[in-house]
Amino acid sequence: MTDLSTTIAGVRFPSCFMNAAGALCVTRDELVALGESGAGAIVTKSMTVEPRQGNPEPRYYGFPGGSINSMGLPNLGYQAYAELIPDLKRYGKPVIASVAGLCEDDFPTIAAIINAAQPDLIEVNLSCPNIPGKPQIGYDPDASERVIKRVRSLITVPMGLKLPPYFDPAHHEVMGKVIGRHGIDFLNMINSVGNGLVVDPEREAVVIKPKGGFGGLGGRIIKPVALANVRAFYKVFQGRIPIIGTGGVVDGVDAFEHVLCGASAVQIGTVLVEEGLGAFDRLKNELATVLARKGYRSLADCLGTVKEL
Ligand SMILES: Cc1cc2nc3c(=O)[nH]c(=O)nc-3n(C[C@H](O)[C@H](O)[C@H](O)COP(=O)(O)O)c2cc1C
Repeated sequence: MTDLSTTIAGVRFPSCFMNAAGALCVTRDELVALGESGAGAIVTKSMTVEPRQGNPEPRYYGFPGGSINSMGLPNLGYQAYAELIPDLKRYGKPVIASVAGLCEDDFPTIAAIINAAQPDLIEVNLSCPNIPGKPQIGYDPDASERVIKRVRSLITVPMGLKLPPYFDPAHHEVMGKVIGRHGIDFLNMINSVGNGLVVDPEREAVVIKPKGGFGGLGGRIIKPVALANVRAFYKVFQGRIPIIGTGGVVDGVDAFEHVLCGASAVQIGTVLVEEGLGAFDRLKNELATVLARKGYRSLADCLGTVKEL
């Protein structure tokens, strides 16, 4: 059987597939279900200081090409997740805590307490596109560096960054410099492609309520953007910082493409919301089949090896 286990920053994952932050991971019941599922890790919803209801509904819409959402970070608040984390560690798979914030001061507040709860890794979300009036920190290198500096000294478990998609090599380069200065243990890209607009021509209306219908795109349509960002940062760091590839993974071949571009693990958002927890076993079978057909025995055999012409 093909080995689909992986290691990120010294932490072993029994399978390379896990949920993306926000997909079926807000409540205790959802997190426990991830623990009992075929997922290779449990990733929490991005947490804020206070519990949040999030944006008004409808705030998620699935369509054949993917999804649009403007959830507005509905979550239980960091104290609830700090209490849940020790319990979630009994499933024999890593727990990744996703830390967000509505302002820069929130990040160290949350990071200190969550670190004390000892998740296996912490993912600092610099890229939520769905808070009305709040630009994404990840699009401002100075603000990103301020936040990274403030949490870096507080976090003792492996610390990663969840990045937004960048669309210009200059941005990969400047963010690469910021990231390279602070001993970041892993990267996760991409978050939703922010501020898309989906229109229902029958109803002659937008499909989600918040922000006049603008929302983050996920699913099939964003795969080329995700692959480009995985590849760009894999090359910036020459494979030295492990990458979790997120974006547009719908089947095992999509996951294989992420690995070829440089992803050591893969997260699923839209397809998990649409299909439910059974997606993990399907994806594992599909990826194992592709790897076996190509004669690869593990992910390491083809990690980052995509050919350039
Ligand atoms: C309903 C929903 C909620 C999300 N919430 C978060 C979140 O809290 N934190 C985060 O970093 N990303 C969040 N995302 C983005 C996903 O983690 C992921 O980066 C994005 O959807 C791309 O993956 P996909 O193409 O598999 O959907 C959310 C996505 C969806 C669809």
